[in-house]
Amino acid sequence: MADSWNPTIEQFSSLPSTNTLAGERANAGAPAGLTLVADFQTAGRGRLDRSWEAPPKASLLCSVLLRPTLPSELLHLATIAMALAARSAVSEVTGVAPELKWPNDVLLQGKKFGGILAEAHLAAPGGAPGTLAIVVGIGINLTFDGPPEANATSLRTSTGHDVDRDVLLEALLQALGPRQAALNTVDGRRSLMTEYREALSTIGQIVTIHLHDGSKEGEAVGVGDDGALLVQIDGVEIPFSVGDVIHVRPAAK
Ligand code: BTN
Repeated sequence: MADSWNPTIEQFSSLPSTNTLAGERANAGAPAGLTLVADFQTAGRGRLDRSWEAPPKASLLCSVLLRPTLPSELLHLATIAMALAARSAVSEVTGVAPELKWPNDVLLQGKKFGGILAEAHLAAPGGAPGTLAIVVGIGINLTFDGPPEANATSLRTSTGHDVDRDVLLEALLQALGPRQAALNTVDGRRSLMTEYREALSTIGQIVTIHLHDGSKEGEAVGVGDDGALLVQIDGVEIPFSVGDVIHVRPAAK
């Protein structure tokens, strides 16, 4: 049954990358809800082929296998479901609600403390017809503020709370349950996007969109139902999809 949600957690002291192993498990037919957690990653991966590095036990590093009934062009909505779950879980555990920055960052006081990497495995067996195997990985800085060049933060620095990793993971998986189920229907996706628009600090900002072949400046005015960022440039609203955009930054004043 697509909407039942019983995550199974496997913990590791060290892995190359929870996303990589979860992808291998997806390709071996593992069920939805498989959750891999590592104290440390030797080859952690971020968006755009970047690395994601953190010292041991300083972060929540995990990947969850989802198998929603979702067209592959809406893959980004799985990132959104995880971002909203992370926001809800952090809010529950610390009492402070993070903001979300399009496309995949979780922020406190304007600084990133969490990032999400969703990867579809289109040939993975084991799912019902019409379902898509998606590994959604998240890194949440608990006590590590990120590398100096990242200008990032941690839950400890931003909220003053030392958050227990496993308590946060439990809250995250609870919060993910209804949101991953929402991916399965048009109405569910619509309500997910409503929640996302409310949580997104990017809307209303003058932003510079860095593309593979240059950059554009405009006002972020919304997000389409497919997750694309809508930016008004010279009076025209232009959708930017995750694949097109390298970075969105507040425009220099
Ligand atoms: C980003 O902001 O660039 C996304 C970072 C995603 C990092 C997490 S950590 C757990 C999982 N395993 C990985 O190798 N990457 C994701």
